[in-house]
Order: sequence, then structure tokens, then C-alpha cells
Amino acid sequence: MHETRPFVKETACPNSSRSRRGTSVVVARTFCAVSLVVLLSRVSSLLKRIALKGSVWLIAFAGLSGCLSAAAEDVPSFAIGPYLQNVTENSITVCWESDVPTDGTVEYWVEGTQNSSIVNVGSDERHEVRLDDLQPATGYHYRVRIPAEGEGSFFTAGFKTAPSEDVPFTFAVYGDSRDSGPEHQALAEAMRAVNPALVIHTGDLVHWGDNESSWGIFWESAAPHDGEKSLMGNFPFYPVIGNHEYMALGGYKDEAILSYLSYFVLPPSGLEDDHPEWSERFYSFRYGPAFFIVLDTNSDSEPEYDPGCGPTEGSPDIHPGSPQHEWLVNQLKVAKAQCPFTFVSFHESPYSSGPWGRNSSYRLRFLDALFREYGVDAVFGSHDHFYERSETYVDNYRILYFVEGAGGAPMYSKASGWNAPGSWMWDELNEAFYTKAFDNSSYSFIKVDIALLGSGRWRATFSATRSNGEVFDVFQITRPSGHIGLAETLTFSFESTPGQTYQVEYSNNLFGSEMEWLPLGAPIVADGPLISITDDGTETGVPPTDATVRHRFYRGREMP
Ligand SMILES: [Fe+2]
Repeated sequence: MHETRPFVKETACPNSSRSRRGTSVVVARTFCAVSLVVLLSRVSSLLKRIALKGSVWLIAFAGLSGCLSAAAEDVPSFAIGPYLQNVTENSITVCWESDVPTDGTVEYWVEGTQNSSIVNVGSDERHEVRLDDLQPATGYHYRVRIPAEGEGSFFTAGFKTAPSEDVPFTFAVYGDSRDSGPEHQALAEAMRAVNPALVIHTGDLVHWGDNESSWGIFWESAAPHDGEKSLMGNFPFYPVIGNHEYMALGGYKDEAILSYLSYFVLPPSGLEDDHPEWSERFYSFRYGPAFFIVLDTNSDSEPEYDPGCGPTEGSPDIHPGSPQHEWLVNQLKVAKAQCPFTFVSFHESPYSSGPWGRNSSYRLRFLDALFREYGVDAVFGSHDHFYERSETYVDNYRILYFVEGAGGAPMYSKASGWNAPGSWMWDELNEAFYTKAFDNSSYSFIKVDIALLGSGRWRATFSATRSNGEVFDVFQITRPSGHIGLAETLTFSFESTPGQTYQVEYSNNLFGSEMEWLPLGAPIVADGPLISITDDGTETGVPPTDATVRHRFYRGREMP
């Protein structure tokens, strides 16, 4: 959301690798001394040895370059990031790692102002600095400097805090970047260009969850040390755990997830006291008019659906009766009561035309009924490597399901053979599954624009976007000012098709299977694009604003 910022570029910080650094410094210095001798001893004869001129100068320049590199590498530099985590109305976390233990500072200031605040941090390799005195919906610049004194490495970028009220915003969704470099970088650049308030990664950030090289490729792509090129340095990043985050060389291991857990600073779920082992694996947060819920669905509690691929026992169960499922229901209740939009993200897309659509993803379709009960608007996943927009449409209510796994990993095709469209397995699995758009021709992300319409309703526009910025699939949904069908005021409006007959209905039950829809007035034939209904309690017995009615739902149901 922050507009173009005047980046204050001071000193370019050299790329570095913590694992290779010690060796590279020694080699660079040795080569420096040798090459200077070569340069001095041969300088008088260089002009006579035209045939060797190129190679000699090549050695000399390489040697000088090594000297300069050695000098530069004496300065502590960034190994990871910086990058942004867990933004709220008043706070955000800035994370980075340096190649050697060192102190540093974070300086930050409101865009367009001169007064800055500075946080000093002690010597360490990893730093997580929470800035907690920020103003809501405000653009900031920040500069990370290591070390605090003298020459150092600098990183300057910006961020915007979350709003304290419901306002329009944009966010980006992508997934399955795995160990792709240039492809991931191009996609990150495309996401930067749409200026998202936040970015959701739907899982499989890396190929090997416990491998430093895999993570190195990820950080270089999503969080380079240049503030003008960094996605994660400018926009808060919310990851979902994919099965590959649990994957170690040789197979799935509980310990492989430790790297992921060490890198990300995510909102608390509230279950940390009872289940500290699941901290940061599932979480939720509100951003303006949208409530986001992130799940860990990698449990192997149903290995029959995922033979040989079911991840670890360390992943929390998501089935009814499990703590994560109970937590999910509570989050859905909060979301429904508070926000026009509820978005849920987890890695294995339950509706997918790809090879995983029949097993490790299919097993999660039981969640659809729960999502329907609480009015979830869209579900974002990946696991299969392409873009697909599907929907389940039951009882006049649509839930959008997105597979956005075109984040850089090798692209997949639709399933073929016994589980392909038209086969018996396909028909059995997909009776209520409608795929609306599919693309595996290029890497992509979803840009979601949340807009407030003049009528007080909200609109979400989902734009599937390629790395070159081309939009190839667009879908929109509109919602009342409350959640779907939820109204605390006396007037309820909904979009209508002229000539279509609607039965307006209401319900006093907010949650659960006890929800009962009752007619409100006689069927109405729409004479325009909008139908407005006023409920004064005459027909329903109690006005909707009465204290005994905490929430009353309304909906306009199309009549045959
Ligand atoms: Fe996956």
C-alpha cells in the first residue's frame, strides 16, 4: 500500500554465505598477495608480450578484485534479509541474520518526516526486532545497519502498518517456489510491482526443509539484501507450511521443520501454553475487513490417501476432535462475526485437477462443509504446480478454491489416466467440484484487491497474474458490510438480476448445524440490480437490533 518511496541508498551490502565465508576470506587474501607480485614483476614487459597481455592482466585484475573482496568481507554483512513479519496496527517485526555475530541498529521514520527512532541490538547472528510504537495505516521507512559503528552494511526499505478500521487493501498469494531461483525472483518482482499490503506463500517454500542451500536460494529470491529489490523486505510475509518444509534428505523428519520455525515470526494461535510444539504452525490474523486463517494440513493421520508421501507425526492433526480443528472452528466464528471476508490458506488444495488432487489433497475435502457453515469466501492452497480456480457451490453459496502452486517449481499437468477427467475415479471424487480456470503455461501469483463499493458493500477481485504482469484470470465476489448474510442494521441489500425472483430469508442462529432459514415476506421479482429489504421486526417478531438478537442473518435466495 505504501507508494513510491525515496530509497536512501548508502552502501551496497555484499552478498555473502555464512557457510562459506570463513574459507573464502582466507583464499581471497592469499591470492591477493601472489597476484600483486605477479603484477609488479611483469609490468615492465607487458607491452612487449602482446600475446600474453590478456592473460597477465586477467591475473592482475583478478588479484586486485580479490584484495577488494577481502577488504569488503572484513565488514560484517547480511546473510539473510532483512525481512518483515507479523504486521499489526501498531507494530511489525524486522528480522535479519548476519554472516558473523554482530550488533546493529534499526532506524525508522514516518514517510515524509525527518524525525526517526533507533533500536540498538546486541551482538548476535540472528536478530528479530519488534517495532511496537507505530501508528496505524501509516507508511514508514526503515534502515538496518550492521555494525552500529563505522563502516557497515545497510539495508533501506519501507512498510505500511495495518489499518485500525475496515479499509480497502491488496494482498498477493503464491506458492511452491521450492528451489527455483530466477523464476522465483521474477515472480517476487512482479508481486512487488502490485504493492501488496501483505504476501501469503501457500507452502513448499523450499525443496528440502532442513537444507541450508535450499533456504539460501529462497532468501536470495524473496529477500535479497537490496531494499529496492526485496519482496519480503518491503511487504510482510505470511507463510504456510508445505510438506517439503517437513522433508529432509532421505525422507520426512520432524526435525526438518526446525529451520522454518526458526526463520518466521508469526502471530500466536493462543494454544501455545497447551501445545508449544505447534507454535507458529497454524495461526490467524485480521487485516482490515479480512480475516486470515492459516492451517498446517501435513499430518499423516490418513496415510491411505498419501502412501509414501505423508509427512510427519509432528504435524498437528486437522480432523474433528483435534486441537487444531477446534481452534479452526473458533477462528471461523470470530471471522464470521467480525469481518466481511474470511480467507483460509493451507498447502494441500482439496480441489485440484492435478496428480495430488486424488489423494493428499482430496483427503481434506471434509473441511468444505465447515467452511460453508461459517461462510468462508476463498481457500488458497498449492501442492500441485499450476494455477487453478475451482468452486464448490451448494445451497446457493459459493466457496472459491485456488491452487496457486506456480511459484517456480517444475510445472505439473492435469492428472491423466485412471484419475483424469471423465474416469470413474474422477467422477466419484468430483461430483460437487467445479473447475473454472486452469493455467500451467507460466509462473503466476494471485493479486487480491479488496474494495469498498459505494453501496457500502465489499468486493474482492482475484486476478491471476503472470511474472510479466499479464492478468489471465479474474473473478469477483461481493459481500455485505458485515459477513456474508450478516446484518446488524435494519436494512439488507443484495445484488439481483432484473426479472429474477428471490425469496428473502432470515436466521437468528449465528453458528452451527441448527441454522434455520425462515422466509421474510413474499417472493420478490427484481426490477433492478439491487434489492433492499427493511426488517422492522413486524414479521420476525423481534427487531434485529433488539438485545436478544445478537446477530440476524439475511440472504436472498434465487427461486427457480
Ligand atoms: Fe507440496
